[in-house]
Amino acid sequence: MKTALISGITGQDGSYLGEYLLDLGYKVVGLHRRSSNHNISRIESLIKHKNFILQEFDLTDPSDCSSTIKEYAPDEFYNLAAQSHVATSFKQPTTTFEINTVGVTNLLESIRLHSPDTKFYQASTSEMFGRNYLVDSQGEKYQNEQTPMLPQSPYACSKLCSHHMVHIYRHSYNLFGCSGILFNHESPRRGANFVTRKITIYLAKLINGLIKDDEKLRLGNIEAYRDWGHAQDYVKSMHMMLNHDIPDDYVIATGKTHSVKDFLQEAFQLWDLDYNNYIQIDPEFYRPCEVEFLKGDATKARQTLDWNPEYNFQQLVANMVYSDLELFR
Ligand code: NAP
Ligand code: GDD
Repeated sequence: MKTALISGITGQDGSYLGEYLLDLGYKVVGLHRRSSNHNISRIESLIKHKNFILQEFDLTDPSDCSSTIKEYAPDEFYNLAAQSHVATSFKQPTTTFEINTVGVTNLLESIRLHSPDTKFYQASTSEMFGRNYLVDSQGEKYQNEQTPMLPQSPYACSKLCSHHMVHIYRHSYNLFGCSGILFNHESPRRGANFVTRKITIYLAKLINGLIKDDEKLRLGNIEAYRDWGHAQDYVKSMHMMLNHDIPDDYVIATGKTHSVKDFLQEAFQLWDLDYNNYIQIDPEFYRPCEVEFLKGDATKARQTLDWNPEYNFQQLVANMVYSDLELFR
């Protein structure tokens, strides 16, 4: 039985990846940071599983990283822990770097010293491209593994630094380290302050009569474009990367892009509602610097890993809307 450690187990991706690896027959150690209020809403099914262990862990603490890696010497380590909110990173840049960059370095060092055969997955991000893109022969903009990176937020910068750290440990010490450059992926388990979930929660409350007459959905830049996929599809790619012969970096994306407006339109039209009547643009939700356009080209992952997403945009929106409708019924 293979052992996998997952940091960020209480997050959206951690919970789905844990379920996926248990189904594949792994022993899974889910690492969560201490909180005053046990934060396990996404992992209740995992906790009941006989091959699952929940362990307290904080990747900003080098001795915790070191002792955890020593204790398990896992076959695979999936580092999904992060301060993952872009807007928050402008308010808490140092914390963001402590977790997203120093934390990753702590893990790489611990693996190098105590368990060099452990395969390491790093949750890199399309945010690292920032404002850069390539243009294809049809004049369409896109990003792939060759696109130069130009981060536009402390979050993106912190992730780009750890992305390079994985390369450095791969080339200097021959560690099996992979970075998944994942484009936005959502689900009914998405955090409530990301734009897609903010929309579907508002809509579900509206339909269930839980919104006061004058209460609008306050949003920032609704012109931004994102390549949105489903988290359940995306966590599979993480396992595929670590189980390929050669460690490498891969863009994971659907290849389709939609604006926040498109998301609103798709969600509200399920009830024949015009979103324009329910939203209010609020400068509070604008960022000091914005990434306006993301559309990924996952050709390398398709050809090398045989990874393909199952959900399309319409199915993703419907899945989130109907799930929140039940939640707030
Ligand atoms: P998420 O829901 O925000 O989960 C982040 C997880 O990290 C949570 O479990 C959080 O614990 C944990 N964490 C934060 N600081 C920690 C620390 N110091 N020590 C231990 N754990 C800590 O994020 P997600 O959407 O699942 O994303 C997973 C990873 O993929 C993140 O690294 C994110 O940056 C990256 N990523 C996400 C996307 C996307 O669209 N979802 C795209 C590209 C890359 P708490 O529950 O205690 O807060
Ligand atoms: N969160 C939020 N809240 N975003 C808003 C709002 C709002 O009220 N109004 C408009 N937006 C816009 C943001 O400005 C951004 O252009 C877009 O909606 C998406 O914002 P988020 O859902 O917060 O996601 P993100 O693209 O900034 O970051 C997510 O995807 C990255 C991958 O590209 C996160 O999951 C990151 O961790 C991940 O790396």
